[in-house]
Amino acid sequence: MKQKFYITTPIYYVNDKPHVGHTYTMFAADALARYHRMRGFDVFFLTGTDENSQKNIEAAKKVGKENDINGYLDEMSALWARTWDSLGMSHDDFIRTTEARHKKAVNKFVDAVWKRGDIYKGLYEGWYCLGCEAFLPESDLKEGVCPIHKTRPEKIKEENYFFKLSRYRQALLKHIKKHPEFIQPEGRRNEIVSYIKNFMEDVSITRSSVKCGIPFPKDKNLHDSARGRQAIYVWFDALINYLSAVGYGTNDKKFKKYWPTDLHLVGKDIIKFHSALWPAMLLSAGLPLPKKVFAHGFFTIEGEKISKSLGNAIDPVELTSRYGMDVVRYYLLREIGFGHDGDFSLERLSERYNADLANGLGNLTARVLGMTEKYFGGKIPPKATGRIANTWLSYEVNMDDLRLDLALTDIWDAIGALDKFIDTEQPWILIKIDKKRLSKVIYTLLESLRNIAWMLAPFLPDAADKIFAQLGQKNWRETPYETAKKWGGLKAGGKVKKGDALFPRLEK
Ligand code: MSP
Repeated sequence: MKQKFYITTPIYYVNDKPHVGHTYTMFAADALARYHRMRGFDVFFLTGTDENSQKNIEAAKKVGKENDINGYLDEMSALWARTWDSLGMSHDDFIRTTEARHKKAVNKFVDAVWKRGDIYKGLYEGWYCLGCEAFLPESDLKEGVCPIHKTRPEKIKEENYFFKLSRYRQALLKHIKKHPEFIQPEGRRNEIVSYIKNFMEDVSITRSSVKCGIPFPKDKNLHDSARGRQAIYVWFDALINYLSAVGYGTNDKKFKKYWPTDLHLVGKDIIKFHSALWPAMLLSAGLPLPKKVFAHGFFTIEGEKISKSLGNAIDPVELTSRYGMDVVRYYLLREIGFGHDGDFSLERLSERYNADLANGLGNLTARVLGMTEKYFGGKIPPKATGRIANTWLSYEVNMDDLRLDLALTDIWDAIGALDKFIDTEQPWILIKIDKKRLSKVIYTLLESLRNIAWMLAPFLPDAADKIFAQLGQKNWRETPYETAKKWGGLKAGGKVKKGDALFPRLEK
């Protein structure tokens, strides 16, 4: 049976359209999903929208849709789904927290936690940041404002239901100690351990003063908003999406197959919810914990925080239609060390485009295919011995360690080495003096390019497809991964054909 790989992105609020920051999480998750599919895993790649949020209601009001919240949510969720489709994302499911399957899962989950005796009624008096959709302890504020949103949180006083989060302090610490890979990168793990040890308290999991949210099934005012209907707190609800999408409460067979998640990919802003609250919730409900939570960094745009008021929230669809889908994916995943913060700039994007894609990959492909046509009439010469095993080795280690930027560096190192190989071998001289050697050189180049196309496929799916087509390997996906990695996949006599430039140089 195939090994499974269940990967998730955060589900996004629909209070606005997607920007390039959200797209970054998607590109990374998509590359990892494609990589695991390529390796033969049974992949389940999940994304979706987080809809039971006060933020969304406020946004609906702003565009005059306060009387048609559901219409607003449908419209916005469809916009997010369309965006990911047009960017070529390969997710297997798109969940909405307003769907019936999710509500079923939430009810089942609450029931399990309730039966465990982990929910009690209490009074919450304190801060609430709408931007974070989070109850903030005084100690989290910096000079009275939320450190992420730089806004003053709202002071609220509500009778709520609480989850006994603090009961799981020791169990969480023990789990993290035993499975250090659970929270990555390491710096984040230290942060979370310190939070769990020193600050983690019980948390409200219902709200009584909001107009949205799944009704809390254990409260007697279940459907009576006038008497303070208790709605499930949006984060408690949203995290459960990872269970609902794989059939918790609706499809046991599917649930058994995919749960637990292998990788929750999140931005660093929401790591705490995913690696403290979420595993505690799962322990309470008696469910196995996710294998890994990885937090990537945040990037600024030309040095500025991405923000609506600054008007710098770049639209990913516009950007990719201008530069090409693969280009934006490549730039973001190569430029920003995965797990670190970074900066996005159009100037750097153009530089990388010209240096790495047009002059690097594009030029190498054109040169190799051009020489095969010129010197061998487009026919693959007899097999020659060669090696690219070291590149594969390093690439796999980096992919498995989630060092996506370094895996790309491995590929580009190989591209650079092949360029050098051409320059030292000088095929244009060999054609006159040593045809046997020329044949070996060209086979080595073509076969290396085939291997490189495999490594590129998770990152630059379009370019990889084009290279495979030029190498006469249209059915490359049918080759098992372990076979594909072996030197000598290209058969002598096979036809190759040079195509259009993969990455035409950008006009200044
Ligand atoms: N709805 C919650 C997540 C619930 S998951 C159960 C949420 N949504 S969000 O719409 O605000 O988007 C969250 C994610 O978008 C972040 O965690 C991060 O992955 C991504 N990013 C948003 N802005 C970003 C940058 N400027 N840079 C990098 N990633 C960014 O939080």
